[in-house]
Amino acid sequence: MRRERCGELREKDIGRDVILAGWVHAVRDFGSLTFVDLRDSSGIVQLVFRGDTRARELGREDVIRVTGKVVGRENPNPNLPTGAVEVAVENLEILAKSKPLPFLPEEEVKASEETRLRYRFLDLRRPRMQRNLRLRHKVAMAIREYLDAHGFIEVETPMLTRSTPEGARDFLVPSRLEPGKFYALPQSPQLFKQILVCSGVERYFQIVRCFRDEDLRADRQPEFTQLDMEMAFLEDPEELFTLLEGLVAHVFRKTIGVEIETPFPRIPYAEAMRRFGTDKPDLRFGMEIVDLTDLFSNSGFRVFAEAVANGGVIRGLPLPGGAELSRSELNKIEATVKNQGLGGILWVKVSDGLQSPLSRHVAEGVLMEAVRRANAGTGDILFLCAGPEKLVAQALGALRVQLARERGLIPEGKWALAWIVDFPLFKLSEEGRIESEHHPFTSPKDEDLPFLETDPLRVRAKCYDLVMNGVEIASGSIRIHRRDLQEQVFKILGIGPEEAERRFGFFLRALEYGAPPHGGIAFGLDRWVMMLAGENSIREVIAFPKTATGSCPLTGAPAEVDEAQLRELHLKLDL
Ligand code: AMO
Repeated sequence: MRRERCGELREKDIGRDVILAGWVHAVRDFGSLTFVDLRDSSGIVQLVFRGDTRARELGREDVIRVTGKVVGRENPNPNLPTGAVEVAVENLEILAKSKPLPFLPEEEVKASEETRLRYRFLDLRRPRMQRNLRLRHKVAMAIREYLDAHGFIEVETPMLTRSTPEGARDFLVPSRLEPGKFYALPQSPQLFKQILVCSGVERYFQIVRCFRDEDLRADRQPEFTQLDMEMAFLEDPEELFTLLEGLVAHVFRKTIGVEIETPFPRIPYAEAMRRFGTDKPDLRFGMEIVDLTDLFSNSGFRVFAEAVANGGVIRGLPLPGGAELSRSELNKIEATVKNQGLGGILWVKVSDGLQSPLSRHVAEGVLMEAVRRANAGTGDILFLCAGPEKLVAQALGALRVQLARERGLIPEGKWALAWIVDFPLFKLSEEGRIESEHHPFTSPKDEDLPFLETDPLRVRAKCYDLVMNGVEIASGSIRIHRRDLQEQVFKILGIGPEEAERRFGFFLRALEYGAPPHGGIAFGLDRWVMMLAGENSIREVIAFPKTATGSCPLTGAPAEVDEAQLRELHLKLDL
């Protein structure tokens, strides 16, 4: 239908006869002369119609085909790659008309997200969305290229399966052939990939959809895509880290042309919590949290002394340039911290001398030492919080990121990646039950095995996360490959032998017939692409995403079904 592409015409094409097809992007009518911007996926070129009255009637997003000649433009447009030329149209064919548009598919779209998703076919025509889809494709290509070269093969695993516990609710699919029974959509291919390495697939990967019925956020969708990987004969995570650092560097180079520095730092979980107040530290900027418990415990200030006596900590967060913060700004910060459950926040401003509400209670030398430890200089402020360790870490960690963002302290264009290692194996749920920090198939560290029965919360796991600019983009572990240890971990999680057999018998059996030591990881592909694209929501890099309430405005899913369908599935609604 077409011979040339709109966005590719240049000065050197002047004099050429061309055949183009595309969407009408704009119409400018000057009576005997009509200009039309024609768009296809390669870009935009200006068409000029002389005396063709049909051109005047063209509307935005009509689809047309034209033949014509490339000519030089009287008024070149330097903002357009094709701006030096235009096409003098000889023949116009209207292939499809568009109805009036619910919104203009412009770069800065003004429509609500609901409308954008309902008319996603219009929204995706925006150059930015086209760029995002293309980038996502390139990421997938680069991943496959690298992993293929390193001996990995892509194997598909079932979508209709049994529950895989990854901490979310399952999506269930009723079985017609076995009334009363349900498939679960996989929260991840975790058990299948472990069975695959037991089956002799020594290096597995899959770009795979996962399903989790959880509360949605900007970086969470009920169905999302993982780059899922598993390796046999893997004992030392370092081997995997090196391979994956190569993968990450390859993807950055091939997709956005950025050279990433490797190796990435390895930071133990406990250290990350102490220095950054989170297990997803944003390492693009400093502002490290410092522990000042020892310094202030005997300082004579009652609030601090009490916090320490109750087993708590005192920590400081420096903010460069923060000495100028006004009273009302400080009150706002205090309110944020109180929202996090802390009593309040104190500060030391470093200007000519030290200014602090603490000066009346604490010796100047102690405050000077705190300022020195936090690396705060003239013009900075040091925030101080006291309380239970977890609360203080969380509050200061959140404040660190919030203040850095608000005050423009995060450098643009910087990529900071790190491995977070040595996570605890278990955590306590809000109801006080022991739960897996990662998932039940993660191996405990050998040196912590003695505490498995006696002090499970002390046991660290052979598990790791990859964090990029403060976002968790991948998570994995060395797995348990012995049935007895797997059963022991199930027991600690409150899963008795019968329940283990019922839910995971198929998997436990695979561990009994020669299971190699193995481990792996999964990347959140949507999150990674989102960051490469410079977007703030994974919905911008998914062709047909769900809204925050899990619905799809395009198709109207989820939707009611016919009575007959329910009957076939032996289901009765109880609403
Ligand atoms: P995990 O549950 O940590 O690990 O998931 C791996 C990565 O997937 C991304 N992710 C999500 N992205 C978008 N929407 C969601 N709802 C969502 N949930 C998770 C995150 C996360 O780091 N089977 C294990 C991996 C393993 O042990 O190999 C797993 O699924 O970026």
